[in-house]
Amino acid sequence: MKVLVIGSGGREHALCWKIAGSQLVDTVFCAPGNGGIDFDANCVDLGVSDFAGLIKFAKTNDIGLTVVGPEVPLSEGIVDAFASEGLKIFGPDKKAAQLEGSKAFSKDIMKEFGIPTAEYGIFNNYNAARDYIGNACFDLVVKADGLAAGKGVIVTCDRDEAFRALDEVMLDKLYGDAGDIVIMEEKLIGEEASFIAICDGDNIVPLASSQDHKPVFDNDDGPNTGGMGAYSPAPVMDDKMFSDVMDKILYPLVRGLKKKGIIYKGVIYAGLMITDKGVHVLEFNVRMGDPETQPLLMRLKSDIVPLMLEVASGGSIRDVKLEWEPGTAVCVVMASGGYPGDYKKGLPIHGIEKADAIDGVKVFHAGTKRQGDLITTSGGRVLGVTSLGPDIKSALEKAYKAAGLIRFEGMHYRKDIGKKALIRE
Ligand code: AMP
Ligand code: GLY
Repeated sequence: MKVLVIGSGGREHALCWKIAGSQLVDTVFCAPGNGGIDFDANCVDLGVSDFAGLIKFAKTNDIGLTVVGPEVPLSEGIVDAFASEGLKIFGPDKKAAQLEGSKAFSKDIMKEFGIPTAEYGIFNNYNAARDYIGNACFDLVVKADGLAAGKGVIVTCDRDEAFRALDEVMLDKLYGDAGDIVIMEEKLIGEEASFIAICDGDNIVPLASSQDHKPVFDNDDGPNTGGMGAYSPAPVMDDKMFSDVMDKILYPLVRGLKKKGIIYKGVIYAGLMITDKGVHVLEFNVRMGDPETQPLLMRLKSDIVPLMLEVASGGSIRDVKLEWEPGTAVCVVMASGGYPGDYKKGLPIHGIEKADAIDGVKVFHAGTKRQGDLITTSGGRVLGVTSLGPDIKSALEKAYKAAGLIRFEGMHYRKDIGKKALIRE
């Protein structure tokens, strides 16, 4: 079978690499792909929102399954467009993708179905939002309702900061139209974890637990990014918590959505805050996490394609059990100088081959381009150096040894990925 993966980041590189190893697959295409995906799949020069071009490509090339990486085409209805042409595609439809496309929608669903989440208010009126800040008896997080490329959230420490954040989102339009509606949320204190699962509309198959590192600098300092590194499993999630997330969060969500006529098929990702009052949902995403996918797929022993194909075909995944490597996988993201702010592009990258040659290491590309033998930077997050080891300590040693072999002007990466897991172990 031929598979088409849509997207161009580290997550999509990991998906292409994993899918290319499937018994069922002979060719993987990726639209538009990146400089590293080019080695593991065939890149196709089509954008993620070019539905007409992608549908034509899938039909002409006899694609048996399309897998969507990022949230934007899902929110724009790519699954509905492919399905209406009789093409098999893995991902939630446009209605279901609102769960990520609108934070207000997502919060109201959580409230309606009793899913634990922070206290909140939703506002399209600036003065009403100011009043909420004035009356709040907890610190606030200010969120733009719509998609904002992984940004759109400002965590504040006092009332003045909350007023400033509101001004930035609603008046200065920091996140454009995404901030026409704002969500004000109680700031929760705890440790974060990512819980990613696959759903067929009724049944849910969880992937292993994982943890992202959002802030740009060591010790969780500095502004939030798309994610500077990840590891799996996340020891902060014990077995009881894991089954609680299934029973008290994911099943109530999927059953609740069904009651509203929304059949959830594809990946569901719960961003969690583990507080001393239990697990709370910070957000739902409708796709795999980036960079969580990189360590998750490195650990996944089972073939993922039959599972995706079953969901895309309208079948049941009730009896599926996934097998995992027992050790730990980590991913260290190497970013462009200046990221998450402005950064240069087109800088040559050296040493990837040497890093990749280390046993148990795979360098997944995110913002890269290939020009003949030369790989250059083309984005903020450039590479995800991913490794698998018998435990977190050895996985980290390998990943940092590999990262140490890679060079490009201005590069930076966190030196404390996995520290929380290391302390727990
Ligand atoms: P989100 O896109 O909603 O997951 O938010 C991005 C990041 O902001 C999260 O990973 C958290 O680090 C932080 N965040 C979001 N909501 C809250 C909250 N209610 N309390 C504390 N931190 C939050
Ligand atoms: N790593 C966080 C995300 O994918 O949203």
